[in-house]
Amino acid sequence: MRPKRRQPAIDFQRFELRCALPYNGLRFKARIAMFRLHLFVCTQQKPEGAPSCSASGSLSVLECLDREIQARGLAGEVQLTTCGCMGLCEEGPILVVYPDGVWYRRVQATDVSEIVASHLCGRRPVERLAWTDAAARQAMSLEHAEKFRATMAARDKAGTLPDRLHQIIRGYMPSRCLLTAIELDLFTVVGNGATAEQAAAAIQANPRALAMLLNALVALGLLTKNGGVFHNTPESARYFARGSKDNHRDGLLHTANIWHRWSNLTEAVRLGAGIPVERASTPEWTEHFIAAMQYNAKERAPAVVAAVGTAGIHRILDLGGGSGIYSIAFAQASPNLRCEILDLPQVVPLTAGYVERAGVVSQVAIRAGDMLQDDLGSGFDLVLLNAICHMFSPQQNLQLFRRARQALSPGGRLVVQDFILNPDKTGPLHAVLFSLNMLVGTGSGASYSEPEFTYWMTSAGFTDVCRINLPGPSDLIVGHAP
Ligand SMILES: C[S@@+](CC[C@H](N)C(=O)[O-])C[C@H]1O[C@@H](n2cnc3c(N)ncnc32)[C@H](O)[C@@H]1O
Ligand code: FES
Repeated sequence: MRPKRRQPAIDFQRFELRCALPYNGLRFKARIAMFRLHLFVCTQQKPEGAPSCSASGSLSVLECLDREIQARGLAGEVQLTTCGCMGLCEEGPILVVYPDGVWYRRVQATDVSEIVASHLCGRRPVERLAWTDAAARQAMSLEHAEKFRATMAARDKAGTLPDRLHQIIRGYMPSRCLLTAIELDLFTVVGNGATAEQAAAAIQANPRALAMLLNALVALGLLTKNGGVFHNTPESARYFARGSKDNHRDGLLHTANIWHRWSNLTEAVRLGAGIPVERASTPEWTEHFIAAMQYNAKERAPAVVAAVGTAGIHRILDLGGGSGIYSIAFAQASPNLRCEILDLPQVVPLTAGYVERAGVVSQVAIRAGDMLQDDLGSGFDLVLLNAICHMFSPQQNLQLFRRARQALSPGGRLVVQDFILNPDKTGPLHAVLFSLNMLVGTGSGASYSEPEFTYWMTSAGFTDVCRINLPGPSDLIVGHAP
């Protein structure tokens, strides 16, 4: 008979939990460290105009709490968690501290130091902010729940479009505002502060129209406005303005470019392939495309090197290497390793620039060619296909895997990285949307599922095919050449 599970005895004051864990019929005593205090900050968002904790500034409160908790070395004993609406929205931001059962209302970022010093450190709740009238709290919460149910019932009866559908339908509006701002290099122009007229003069735009866009960017939380002067938020200055080391503008211009392809989605679905857009053949398009690939792979490249390892690898063939980021990462991980990148002629000069800037010219060779047709060479220990298969049809991929197999030495590996669909192809969302990105952008590309990758691998003669999950949206499929 299985032993009966005993309820854990929680002694919050001593920050630990003692419980009896049933395991294979034996019972072990476990002592698990627990948090002394648990903080809940409501970060619920509501439709514009409706009162909510997030609209009253709970995200800044959360950020300040996190900072202050870290700074005072309390992270191991105080757990900070976000939570949804508690029906007290008019009194927000709401913060609850357990096990003390202290409810704070209308907390602002400027109150955080006092709460942390007095309550979290000194166990003395801040009386001026504590909401001690439990009956009033409960009444407000119940009234709110009742109103909410009545509103939902009335909307349902009237056949009103639900907010979730509204958000999907109008999702392009905020996206388009930001992409246009990036195209106009507005965040650089706003710099340390500019009026709409000054910004319009700098980029030769219409002042009335630009003011409308700048105001929308303020509403989206991407700029601030003070006395008619617009400023970058710290986030916008960091990611979108020239001069910042984390500026992603070059790569994001690729997203702005593919917007034009996505506007043809309806036609592409009718025809079964993307409609060519004129701007796609320009050198600027290619430059932004490769920059976007480089930004996307910055975090992934070290993860791929760690997952694949460098032991026993002397020669790597990096097909469609783009910015060369994976070859560069392998070369930097092992000085004796040599890589060969094969890419299209128009990309090769860009690849050469990236390889040179990384200082690995002696280890990384670059060759112009077509991976579907040209000789791939032989004797490689590793063939890389990072973000490649989604450009091609299933037949082309099968052919490509066979060609990769020929290029490998016995015991070599083919490493494929891509957004991998579930077997029924309805998820994950990023892979499903990316499949449409390939529909509008290529003749026969798509996202593919693990069974499809495995089928191409085994049909091409690879053995021990396995999937390696990486942090982030893409994973590896690895096959061994016998
Ligand atoms: C999506 S990017 C991936 C780049 C790189 N592997 C990465 O993950 O960052 C696809 C790359 O394949 C290259 N490419 C496309 N078709 C090719 C072909 N037929 N032969 C060689 N390279 C090709 C493109 O120029 C581009 O650099
Ligand atoms: S939004 Fe925070 S309590 Fe309702």
